[in-house]
Amino acid sequence: MLSTSLPRATQFDPQTRLRIREGERPSIQATKLQHFFGAGELRKQVLFDNNLTVYPGEIIIMTGPSGSGKTTLLTLIGALRSVQQGELCVLGEPLHGANRTALERFRRDVGFIFQSHNLFESLSATQNVRMSLELCRPEMDSAGHTRAAETMLDQVGLGHRMHHKPKQLSGGQKQRVAIARGLVHQPNLVLADEPTAALDEQSGRTVVDLLQRQAKEMGTTIMIVTHDNRILDVADRIVTLVDGSIRSDALVKEAAIITQMLAKCRVFERVTPRTLTRIADELLIESAQVGIPIIRENDPGDRFFLIREGRVSVRRGDSDTEIVQLGAGDFFGEMALLTGQPRNATVWPLEETLLYSLSKSNFQSAMSESATMETEIREAYFDRK
Ligand code: CMP
Repeated sequence: MLSTSLPRATQFDPQTRLRIREGERPSIQATKLQHFFGAGELRKQVLFDNNLTVYPGEIIIMTGPSGSGKTTLLTLIGALRSVQQGELCVLGEPLHGANRTALERFRRDVGFIFQSHNLFESLSATQNVRMSLELCRPEMDSAGHTRAAETMLDQVGLGHRMHHKPKQLSGGQKQRVAIARGLVHQPNLVLADEPTAALDEQSGRTVVDLLQRQAKEMGTTIMIVTHDNRILDVADRIVTLVDGSIRSDALVKEAAIITQMLAKCRVFERVTPRTLTRIADELLIESAQVGIPIIRENDPGDRFFLIREGRVSVRRGDSDTEIVQLGAGDFFGEMALLTGQPRNATVWPLEETLLYSLSKSNFQSAMSESATMETEIREAYFDRK
């Protein structure tokens, strides 16, 4: 039997496969969050029972069709709308039921980056950025505001454009002013709505590089609503909203590791990348402890295993002879699923081992992608010594 208890550092949520960062306080925690527009007969639910946990320094990209509730969720997190049902704690502040003073104080710790047309046309770049400091850092003096605004504009590469008004700036430059305005007060949370829309590839890249630097160097949590596929790679996680519900919350980097591991497995060598991605989605993470076999010889096979971390010993027969040791990136448990025979060996963890497992039906559906391939695999395996 597999156990799900792991040391704190490697706890995973079995459903989402997200690493649970025990002891660390999330910067965003939504629980059963719902939202409605309108009243009476016209009342329409736009967010349904959403749960979301985000940690400091994470970059979350939120995607989904238009009208799926992304902007509503973003504005709830930024306390620009009141929480109606469910719980929402952001930067340690319970936004459900918070009073006005608490909300105002909270908003000073958030950087909002919206489309560049939100800039004030009559103000220079410096003045636009300074405004954010006047609102959010009233304790700073006027000279301090100007200095900080100029430093920030310098950092976004606009040192030479500080005194220009928005209409004298290009689209990319305006957007960088909007970014400078969103970051200048050193917020702990940045909420960005389509920050790269309407930017060319290079300006879009500059914008996301800036955001990435802010997350890594300052531990700022960054949440970006976007349809821009070119920037998905900066995300630590991608949250997809469909019809008001969070449909997937995949740990992007982990998903990439899994797909790479699968691609290296001989058993999947003829499976297309698209199917590998689908398989990666179906895997569940489990942990195995020393002293408890993961599978036993002669048992029927119901799952396939991929080793994420740790080492196992494959042993066979009454004498329990070790046939092979397997480690990270290796797989086992495929034979019984391919042949329909019972397990041909017992697999013992040699240390605490983290495994991805795939159900028999998912494994078989991947294998049946091509009948010839299945035949080839069978042959290859039966020929194996
Ligand atoms: P299965 O028969 O489903 O369960 C036991 C697993 O041990 C088997 O699949 C293989 O994955 C693995 N196994 C058995 N023999 C060997 C071997 N010689 N080399 C590598 N793995 C093996």
